[in-house]
Amino acid sequence: ASSAGPPVRRVSDWEAGALHEIAAEHGTPLYVQDLDRVRENCERLRNAFPDADVRYAVKAHTGRSVLETVREAGLDAECASAGEVDRALAAGFDGERLHYTAVNPPARDLDYVVGITAAEPAVTVTVGAVDTLDRLAERGYDGRICLRVNPGVGAGHHEKVRTGAAAKFGVPYDRAAEVARSAADRFNLVGIHAHAGSGIDPDQLDSHRELVTRMGELARELVEPRAETGSAGGDARPLDLDYVDVGGGFGVPYEEDAPPLDLHAVADATREAVGPLPAGVDLAIEPGRYVVADAGVLLARVNTVKPTPDGTVVGVDAGMTDLLRPAMYDAYHPIRNLGGAAGATAPDERPATPVTVAGPICETGDTLCKNRSLADPIRGDFLAVGITGAYGYEMANQYNSRPRPAEVTLDDGMATIARRRETLTDLTTVERTENDSTGESR
Ligand code: LLP
Repeated sequence: ASSAGPPVRRVSDWEAGALHEIAAEHGTPLYVQDLDRVRENCERLRNAFPDADVRYAVKAHTGRSVLETVREAGLDAECASAGEVDRALAAGFDGERLHYTAVNPPARDLDYVVGITAAEPAVTVTVGAVDTLDRLAERGYDGRICLRVNPGVGAGHHEKVRTGAAAKFGVPYDRAAEVARSAADRFNLVGIHAHAGSGIDPDQLDSHRELVTRMGELARELVEPRAETGSAGGDARPLDLDYVDVGGGFGVPYEEDAPPLDLHAVADATREAVGPLPAGVDLAIEPGRYVVADAGVLLARVNTVKPTPDGTVVGVDAGMTDLLRPAMYDAYHPIRNLGGAAGATAPDERPATPVTVAGPICETGDTLCKNRSLADPIRGDFLAVGITGAYGYEMANQYNSRPRPAEVTLDDGMATIARRRETLTDLTTVERTENDSTGESR
């Protein structure tokens, strides 16, 4: 707790009046991201892991002001693409503080990263396949490398985000030492990396512990090889690693009554599981969700209230194109009726009614909740969808030709438009027109 605020900010903790004003001024659907809460979350992580490198997983929220806030709070950044590296550099991160995790990297991404690496200081490239090493060598890459390992143990809120045991990610654990040694012969190998998955809740800490244990063992085997570590380790030269990165994935409670992760307990478990690290080898973590999730809400407005034989369907102006998580993972997001319908009583004076909240998209899966009890919604009310600061705007798309929503950031209570609402013109600006002479781009 302390100065870093409560362990989670619930949707009920937001000030309804302030959200009303913002929605009235900027329209809906609208993401709101509170930079003060982002700061608190960074501080909470740094307090719990005082001697670890904390790297923010940029994919959770790439907004410029969020990146600047995280950088000022002293975190490094983990990027999943050239685009994320580009954004992090634009937000003022030094290349030294950037880690690019290359998963089956498109040639364009490798070209970009090798290009910026030619100018010091360079980003570190985390590699999960021998082919990626070869492709970097072909491009004359001579910067820092980290090896991504498939630890054989995964965790996370949904099958689709459990990366730890998925063959797509990293080199198999039992080949990792051998690949690390050959990588170190060709490049400046500075670390090893693994990521269990996303949304690790308190009941999945055993998987986290298991992953961390394996990574600690691997670090010792590489840095302090002993004869008895097996044939490959027997006469291996010791490697000089700077860090063992055990990934991100720290969960945030979405359900109102779910207990928050005890970060200090996670930190203790992590330290214990990783064991004594060789001198000069630091622990690193790369949380995304934990930094930004509870710093955000999505505001939507009720436009239709329809009684049906299957219950009341509340139609709103935000759907799966704005917030994909419910449709994609059956994810739960808390929803609060903020009221606002002209002449209606305050929501807390209305009866609770079971409703399904659905968006404007032509798919049955386009719901934000099903049969959930809300303070009876009326046309014109604003709804706040909670815990949308991570993987909210980032996964928004233009399906059904819906422009992406706007986003406002709050800094010390001051609202600033951070990403303007897209327009219908934005939908077609990338289309080739008849008198376009530029031809197809690579
Ligand atoms: N490091 C790596 C290599 C990752 O792939 C990820 C997330 C993270 C760190 C950060 O994980 P976090 O701390 O945010 O859980 N769209 C999904 C989440 C996908 C996460 C993918 N990788 C969702 O909305 O739940």
